[in-house]
Amino acid sequence: MADWQKSDWRAKPRIQMPEYTDDAELKAVEAKLASYPPLVFAGEARRLKAQLGAASRGEAFLLQGGDCAESFEQFSADGIRDTFKVMLQMAMVLTYGAKVPVVKVGRMAGQFAKPRSAPTETLDGVELPSYRGDIINELDFTPESRIPNPNKMLQAYTQAAATLNLLRAFSTGGYADVHQVHSWTLGFTEGEKATKYRDMANRISDTLDFMKAAGVTSDRLHSLQTVDFYTSHESLLLEYEEALTRLDSTSGKWLAGSGHMIWIGDRTRQPDGAHVEFARGVQNPIGLKCGPTTTADDLKVLMEKLNPENEAGRLTLIARFGAGSVGDHLPRLVKAVQEEGANVLWTCDPMHGNTIKSATGYKTRPFDSVLCEVREFFGVHKAEGTIPGGVHFEMTGQDVTECTGGVRAVTEEDLSARYHTACDPRLNASQSLELAFLVAEELSDRDQAKAAAAV
Ligand code: PEP
Ligand code: CO
Repeated sequence: MADWQKSDWRAKPRIQMPEYTDDAELKAVEAKLASYPPLVFAGEARRLKAQLGAASRGEAFLLQGGDCAESFEQFSADGIRDTFKVMLQMAMVLTYGAKVPVVKVGRMAGQFAKPRSAPTETLDGVELPSYRGDIINELDFTPESRIPNPNKMLQAYTQAAATLNLLRAFSTGGYADVHQVHSWTLGFTEGEKATKYRDMANRISDTLDFMKAAGVTSDRLHSLQTVDFYTSHESLLLEYEEALTRLDSTSGKWLAGSGHMIWIGDRTRQPDGAHVEFARGVQNPIGLKCGPTTTADDLKVLMEKLNPENEAGRLTLIARFGAGSVGDHLPRLVKAVQEEGANVLWTCDPMHGNTIKSATGYKTRPFDSVLCEVREFFGVHKAEGTIPGGVHFEMTGQDVTECTGGVRAVTEEDLSARYHTACDPRLNASQSLELAFLVAEELSDRDQAKAAAAV
């Protein structure tokens, strides 16, 4: 983009970003980050863009998932492995339903900065600045912890680099072998629903066994052993993003080197704001959260700014309206896209519109609301004749108790047992896999509709 510099966002109104107090310290951190290698490369971002383009045409399906906020304290190889593993299991279930490849994108290796609904938090009469993610300040409820510290960007970079290193190793080093990851039933032992999941899991296992018997084994077929796995995060802390932005010598275009895909949050999507200004100039695939306050006109302006060349795979619209509200909002945005003839990938984030406070005081999300929003999303696309192209979940591979419900039901009383999230409640491994089975049913409808249309 000829008329764009990576620092142009600085002249635009910015919200949801920290006011650092020590300018010299901030400048030193930015200079150091700018001297470090980028975490991702332009060719990878372009390959992801092509795959997202396929998803926008119904030739693939996007599974995006991971923590609400990555944490310094909970950083561990096991945590990364477990989330990676459950995402591969989900992807296999979704592939089976959709009959198309699943594009896997983690909310990982950079998902540190958080927008907040209020600038301060009050506890027992004490008011402090809100926690904004480990890249900015600390969760502890003390005045010192809440002071934004630019040096945390360096720790975030290091953790992102180590996370990405492990993900790259898992993706190519044999861990992603399909025969290693299909321990399907994950404790779904009882009841009618569990039987349904086990049946589907058995059909997938049978298919794998058949392939093996037919000589299509993973050691002969490289693509069963390796997997494409991409990273993504909200592009919120623009000092960090700018410092990792580099000119790609092959294409002459800018690349946000902090992750393969970046997205703009529901709170920072002002067409003339700093976050849109930054994202419009980099060649990465861009996500845009669309919430109940997104108007058709806003969306038209944003599509023109973020994807002026109408490139397939460049723009993913992440719908997050809340169960019961999708029908009130999604149709007007689908129409705006159609009126502009815009190429977009539609995905569903059924997390952020469904957060409630439990009777026991924990922020939670009922599994049934999450599922309900996904079904409404598929329903609207079916009615409008457009393509539901992906899902976006806050989830973890660990056995946490943060969202209620699911076949291995987590109750409101259970929430306190293993509530570990630094920010929003995540689906645990079993809830994530269960949701994949249920989305797979929606997808097999989509596949059958496609097949019927082709006859
Ligand atoms: C998020 O994805 O973590 C988030 C804050 O979402 P939204 O901007 O849609 O509220
Ligand atoms: Co969140």
